[in-house]
Amino acid sequence: MRGTRKYQHVIETPDPGKWELAGYEESLPISEKSNPMTRELDKADPSQLVQLLRDCDAEIFQEEDENLIHYHRLYSESVLKTMGDVAKRVQEVLKNPDDSLVVLSGCGTSGRLALLLANSFNGLLKGLHKTPCYCYIMSGGDRSIVTSQESSEDNPQLGAQELEKVCEGKKNVLFIGISCGLSAPFIAGQLDFCMRHLDVYLPVLVGFNPVSMARNERIEGWHSSFRQVAERLQTLHDSQKGFILNPAVGPEGVSGSSRMKGGSATKILLETLLLVAHKAESNVPVTEKCLLEILRTYERAHKVTYSQSKKIAALMKQTATSLQKKGHLYILGWGTLGLVGIMDAVECVPTYQADWRDVRGFITGGYHSIENKEGDLSSLGPQFSISHEDFVKNVLPSVSETDTVLLIFTLDDDLNQIEKLVALVKEKTSNIQVICHATAGQYLPNSLKKTIPSIIGLTWPILFLEYEGAFIQKFQRELSTKWILDTVTSGAYTLRGKIFRNFMVDFKINNSKLFHRATSVLQRLTGQSHQRCTEVLLQSIYGEQTLSEQIRNTTIAGHVEAAASQDKVLPVAIVSLLRSCTIQDSRSRINSSLSIRSAIESSMNVPGRKRGAEDSESR
Ligand code: F6P
Repeated sequence: MRGTRKYQHVIETPDPGKWELAGYEESLPISEKSNPMTRELDKADPSQLVQLLRDCDAEIFQEEDENLIHYHRLYSESVLKTMGDVAKRVQEVLKNPDDSLVVLSGCGTSGRLALLLANSFNGLLKGLHKTPCYCYIMSGGDRSIVTSQESSEDNPQLGAQELEKVCEGKKNVLFIGISCGLSAPFIAGQLDFCMRHLDVYLPVLVGFNPVSMARNERIEGWHSSFRQVAERLQTLHDSQKGFILNPAVGPEGVSGSSRMKGGSATKILLETLLLVAHKAESNVPVTEKCLLEILRTYERAHKVTYSQSKKIAALMKQTATSLQKKGHLYILGWGTLGLVGIMDAVECVPTYQADWRDVRGFITGGYHSIENKEGDLSSLGPQFSISHEDFVKNVLPSVSETDTVLLIFTLDDDLNQIEKLVALVKEKTSNIQVICHATAGQYLPNSLKKTIPSIIGLTWPILFLEYEGAFIQKFQRELSTKWILDTVTSGAYTLRGKIFRNFMVDFKINNSKLFHRATSVLQRLTGQSHQRCTEVLLQSIYGEQTLSEQIRNTTIAGHVEAAASQDKVLPVAIVSLLRSCTIQDSRSRINSSLSIRSAIESSMNVPGRKRGAEDSESR
């Protein structure tokens, strides 16, 4: 830890990378920059992958450094102060639950976290026999809990409508819009709606870029860009009519994959803030000390989690082997740990063009445990079957030695039921692994220990805290599970050749952010102009070498729609640009390559190729 260190830390965070220096990938927001630490992620073995992603996660807790560009961090005074201010406003809602509401909203992982958090704090209130006053919104509705519905993220009007609907009749609404990249139009629409009705709404934006780096292109079919909305919100800060919580947590280990650090930081920041608000309700004043006390428990969780690095690496290796053999990873979790598993599995689809069957999550009790607004969705199709019973009935019969099954539970869960499930799974595959959370003094029964070859055991200290504080352990276990799963699946897909350097190079282009990300990755890997990269990307999307006027005049939303039915759009464009070959040529090269990564790597070394921006800048 460097700089003007103010707080006693639980973990030592690595030295700052050069992403903090002026000029480093200047045109990109922090959330889209490539992390200097993981520049060679694609060459790492499983142990190195765990170590690199562990260090990236540790950056969440890094303090600001006055010698470098002044980014506010989680521990910055201004951030802690805003957290405290928002916590006080949450208390006002808690005092009048009948006509007040805290609404959490997000897209993709941010939306799933909104659901998880709303349920946690409603559960906390119910346990105290108080009225629940949290609710969640996710773009794409409840279908997005278990499937990826990226396109609704682009709709600001829909965001505003949904917000208005859930808040009908309320007099005081604290709205928390989560967009890690300060980028989602859906959230921009909701913030804009709040700012037009400040008599009822208090808008709070949560994300991990400075406002000056918020997404700046005008949202199609709307009046503003995300940045303009964020700038308007910023002007409300002094009068406390709106807040922005946006500490920098550093670039993602896999560039742009905001489900990882962005998601974890969202959970840490909001759970801390809301817990303090609830504690304060029981007459403990909101102080920086209260916030720090809770933040440190998350730092400890990082330490406890990664003390199991060796076993996490083994699980990653096993998962990669299963995926390589066209097998699957099935994640079966108990309680909210099941939801964390589902969250991780779903994101593999848009991030790595995975088939939805490749990595799947299941939860005890299915939708009943998730407590989602729209109830049981299993009739919508096999993708929506998420209970352990569904797994046993529909999936287990076809499980084989090529598959990996991961069970995630705490020692407070029904161990008999777990033992029975383990026995059933073992009849099909020996690749069974476990993440088991215990409280100090609790031990896994020998009968279970003997039957499971590999156990990631995490022991959490007993916390002698009042009721609200007891939730800390639940939050630690969820975050720890999230860290492990993010690392395992991102690492496994890296080993499968879905990452080049630290760029995702085979993601689904199914919203405008992802369209722009694709162009940006193309530019960074090939060094070609923005215009040329866009042109080749369109050639790849439409499978045509010559672009018609009609295609050229199509909106980005139109291109996104066309991209939905294509696979390998970005890799085809990258190889085509690197080799100056046709789209068809490029596609057949990729199809005959060992992996996407190897196709790109061999194209990088084509004689006479112009060196790319990334080549000259970083290698
Ligand atoms: O568009 C896909 C995605 O990047 C998801 O991976 C992510 O969880 C979601 O968008 C939300 O991103 P953000 O929180 O930055 O708006």
